[in-house]
Amino acid sequence: MTGIICGTGSYAPSYIMDNNEIATMVETSDEWIRERTGVATRHIIKGETTVSMACEAAKRALADGKVRAEEVDVIIVSTISSNVILPCTACEVQKELGAVNATCFDMSAACSGFVLAYNTALSYLSGGMYKTALIIGSESLSNLTNWKDRGTCILFGDGAGAAVMRAKEGRMYLPATHSDGIKGNALTCLSRHTPVDAGHMTDPEYYMQMDGQAVFKFAVKRVPEVVNEVLEKNQVDKEEIVWYIMHQANSRIVEAVAKRLEVPIGKFPMNLQEYGNTSSASIAILLDEMKRDGRLMSGQKIIIAGFGAGLTWGAAVLEWEP
Ligand code: COA
Repeated sequence: MTGIICGTGSYAPSYIMDNNEIATMVETSDEWIRERTGVATRHIIKGETTVSMACEAAKRALADGKVRAEEVDVIIVSTISSNVILPCTACEVQKELGAVNATCFDMSAACSGFVLAYNTALSYLSGGMYKTALIIGSESLSNLTNWKDRGTCILFGDGAGAAVMRAKEGRMYLPATHSDGIKGNALTCLSRHTPVDAGHMTDPEYYMQMDGQAVFKFAVKRVPEVVNEVLEKNQVDKEEIVWYIMHQANSRIVEAVAKRLEVPIGKFPMNLQEYGNTSSASIAILLDEMKRDGRLMSGQKIIIAGFGAGLTWGAAVLEWEP
């Protein structure tokens, strides 16, 4: 028994902030940001919330998978930027969708979040506990961004991506995942509730803080390792993989991973140019785009790989079926 993705959906706020707008807030330039990160624009919430984006992405995924909300047994939302602490985002999504039979919870695993939500759902489905799962990554990172810190504010964006998964007879590919809490200081944020507009929480520690170079080095070392590990674990050759779908943090990281794996960069799709780093939403948004534009096709083997705060990293092999 295994679990397959049978529907995808995504949502990005309509407001687009380009690099020139960022250059009005901090000392930087479009050229610098593009060269060091690959990012040109990012979508930023104007009225949307983590919940509203998650709901929209989820509705689109259900429609795409032709799954009714009442059929969903479990909703897992990965987020580090929920609107409120209680109730959790997944329960808010349940309410909006009318997914009355679902068990709902959030998970916090930052940029590895979509991979870990996928793995969690996969083990429920393959173990027989549930038949239908809805996994969502939704992030309003603009609420956690220090817009005075040019080392971080250039990187992030807002958005949501979702996937519906069904239990199905077939081979289950084992994931590979790791964490290293000792290195957690490389990427921190002391509060999920920075009232940016209220202006009374100005301590930089309450926003995302990052040792950019440490995170960069961690990613380019650990991601190729975990990709090789997941291939080996499942006895899959890297040539069999049609797409390597990485967390969309930085084009230089993706390029370095491709180089270390000795896999052509053309197998590493990217949309970070448009979205920036949307943390747990990034892989799901990219999957949805690739499904809609026909790049993802039935029978293809793909790898998804996430990495980020914690530190955490992981990869999974999927056989695309819908
Ligand atoms: N615009 C212009 N100059 C900038 C800048 C910006 N937005 N941000 C930093 N700089 C400056 C620094 O102040 C420094 O100047 P100095 O040499 O005068 O001190 C110089 O550029 C180099 O800084 P450095 O931090 O070494 O740059 P970098 O090449 O490492 O690039 C990042 C910075 C953040 C783009 C890069 O480290 C990175 O992408 N790291 C990974 C981040 C990531 O993806 N995190 C999320 C993972 S889930």
